[in-house]
Amino acid sequence: MTQYKNVGVLTGGGDCPGLNAVIRAVARTCFGYGVKVWGVKNGFGGLVENQIGELFDHDISGILHRGGTILGTTNRDNPFNYAILGANGYTYKDMSAQALANLKSRGIEALVVIGGDGSLNIASGFDKLGFPVVTVPKTIDNDIFGTERTFGFDTAVACASEALDRLHTTAESHHRVMLLEVMGRYAGWIAFHSGMAGGGDVILIPEVPYKFEAIVAAINARKAAGKLFSLIVVAEGAYPQGGEVTVARIVENSAEKIRLGGVGEKLARQIEEHTGIESRCTVLGHLQRGGSPTAYDRVLATRYGVAAVDALMAGKTGVMVALQKNKIVTVPIKDVAGNPSNVPLEALRVARAIGISFGDEV
Ligand code: F6P
Repeated sequence: MTQYKNVGVLTGGGDCPGLNAVIRAVARTCFGYGVKVWGVKNGFGGLVENQIGELFDHDISGILHRGGTILGTTNRDNPFNYAILGANGYTYKDMSAQALANLKSRGIEALVVIGGDGSLNIASGFDKLGFPVVTVPKTIDNDIFGTERTFGFDTAVACASEALDRLHTTAESHHRVMLLEVMGRYAGWIAFHSGMAGGGDVILIPEVPYKFEAIVAAINARKAAGKLFSLIVVAEGAYPQGGEVTVARIVENSAEKIRLGGVGEKLARQIEEHTGIESRCTVLGHLQRGGSPTAYDRVLATRYGVAAVDALMAGKTGVMVALQKNKIVTVPIKDVAGNPSNVPLEALRVARAIGISFGDEV
């Protein structure tokens, strides 16, 4: 067994329900090994800026049910390509040596990184420099390769499903087409699962580029059958066949600069024009990322946190803890980073069988 005396933990990338549950599990497992735990504030930025403090039992008590992260996070900073704002805008510098020096000055010998794909890449950079690191897959999008579930996804799906239940009743009263735009840049997991759970009639996901006529046909078929309203769930990354995703904004100093959004509103206007049915779009946005994690996410996050420390203590590095066939395993980061996990097209069969349209077949 590896005899670390000090282990660091950081949360990187967009926040997600269950982060605190992982931090708690990491800290408690470390305490069990007789290891000190250090919390890095504000993601990889805090690592460069030396915002690191020891975590004690009282810091991690009472946080299991809390959304967000007690450590703070950011989806911008990358120590290997660190944005520094000067008079002429941003310049980028490799600050990884500074980050390592900050860890070593406190005797921190290994790191648990709780993050999504961007954080996995950065963690892998530290592993290559010889600094032991184990990662925990985090994102509401559930699009990390090598694991069947990321924590936070279940909570986001519950949020989107509840929103659909609410939209259902008002859609029905007003005989309208109601669209719900949910998160999911490259993968439509949230749209697919919430659409199934919330009775969506059309689900639009990045894995299946849509044909506008197919959406109109699905709405008109319902109308012909006496169903005067329709519910459409659209992932922010959905796009038309031969077309492009809808970009909401560019975040200049972010590793991944593009933020998506707006496809739902665009479609609502087109649908109203082509069907004559009044249409509205609701963008669920960051409501999906906030709030208390579901019981499922708390348990998964806890299993991941314990497994990450166990893996470090077993001498593993450069690995991500993952859920496969309901067991927690470790997979090499190099096999998973940069490889989004998409909704398998075979999975759509269940939805198609009950009449859900993916906007691809007229
Ligand atoms: O990856 C998580 C995620 O919530 C995406 O689904 C979404 O596109 C993005 O982050 C939003 O980022 P921001 O918080 O910077 O708006």
